[in-house]
Amino acid sequence: MAEQRLGIIMNGVTGRMGMNQHLIRSICAIRAQGGVALSNSDRVMPDPILVGRNADKVEALAEQHGIDRWTTDLDAALNDADDTLFFDAATTQMRAKLLKQAIAAGKHIYCEKPTAETLKDAIDVAKAAKKAGIKHGVVQDKLFLPGLLKLKSLIDSGFFGRILSVRGEFGYWVFEGDWSPAQRPSWNYRKKDGGGIILDMLCHWRYVLDNLFGEVESVSCLGVTHIPKRWDEHNKPYKADVDDAAYATFQLKGGAIAHINSSWCTRVRRDDLVTFHVDGTLGSAVAGLQKCWSQARVNTPRPVWNPDVPQPINFFETWSEVPGLGSYDNGFKVEWEMFIRHLFEDTPFKWTLVEGAKGVQLAEAGLKSWEQRKWIDIPELKI
Ligand SMILES: NC(=O)c1ccc[n+]([C@@H]2O[C@H](COP(=O)([O-])OP(=O)(O)OC[C@H]3O[C@@H](n4cnc5c(N)ncnc54)[C@H](O)[C@@H]3O)[C@@H](O)[C@H]2O)c1
Repeated sequence: MAEQRLGIIMNGVTGRMGMNQHLIRSICAIRAQGGVALSNSDRVMPDPILVGRNADKVEALAEQHGIDRWTTDLDAALNDADDTLFFDAATTQMRAKLLKQAIAAGKHIYCEKPTAETLKDAIDVAKAAKKAGIKHGVVQDKLFLPGLLKLKSLIDSGFFGRILSVRGEFGYWVFEGDWSPAQRPSWNYRKKDGGGIILDMLCHWRYVLDNLFGEVESVSCLGVTHIPKRWDEHNKPYKADVDDAAYATFQLKGGAIAHINSSWCTRVRRDDLVTFHVDGTLGSAVAGLQKCWSQARVNTPRPVWNPDVPQPINFFETWSEVPGLGSYDNGFKVEWEMFIRHLFEDTPFKWTLVEGAKGVQLAEAGLKSWEQRKWIDIPELKI
């Protein structure tokens, strides 16, 4: 059993996602467990170099998590032939440019979504990766959530019969930032900084819908800026000029209809911050981040419409929890491990920059649908 090293240039790790999900919960966790096991029982040990603009912040982060290497010089990091993978979770706006620079330097790529701000750029990056013959992957974390894995097991078992519809509710109240600090970075609410919930969330809905319920064939989307004034990290008011909610309907291959509300302006009274309610001819299910509940055709209660009496059925009690496998690892870490195996032993890995570009394609179509007030078809993406 030998240990193999993977040198990773990690960019954007002082940010929310980069730090929490990718550095701490994925790379540090993989290091702590002794690396990623390969089929020949070798282990791959990630050896990251943290990259950021603010030396004090990056140094402190590296020290806090027992990482030896950090830098503020991305160009120099990309020139080091011993570090073969470039990872990016920094601002969306710089992603396409940075990915192209890393591809030109011969690095493999793993990155957050969206892979670019426009479909044209997302396709350019995917083409550059293909031409360079490097390996590439994009974070598609929702697929690895326990709730969605349980839902997938119901789909694969034929539990639903014919799937009729999927209703997704994503969102929670993001504080405006005046009397209570916002729990998301302020760039999310500014157009010039790459914000907007459609660009952010429709990338996710593309791979969730494509992989679970049928490829997205068309979209109708209405965006809105519900809250036009917010306060930033320095408590300064600013104009929020992008969509902070999106109400989108999707037609899927195979005939199912999906409708997903995405909102940073809604107060939660449901099972989780995101829920997917699936109705099929033989059964229904509701999945949240962790849990999933099902109701079979034979267990379906018989409600009778009578507004004159209080509802006699407690509907929540008529569902059974899907037990699943018991314990699940962090979804971001699971995908990192799959990608690392793909790098070292060429195991199949579906979630490439081409799949990432499909996410951007749907986001762009959603924005176009909103602007033009009409349904937009989603053509097959050939790269
Ligand atoms: N997979 C998911 O569920 C998920 C969730 C949220 C965000 N994201 C994606 O992750 C990325 C980061 O989002 P976040 O919420 O962590 O944001 P964040 O603001 O917390 O972090 C952004 C990072 O980018 C760096 N950065 C910003 N501007 C920069 C510049 N000009 N040059 C160099 N570095 C710069 C910041 O220093 C920080 O490290 C975005 O692309 C976003 O779409 C993914």
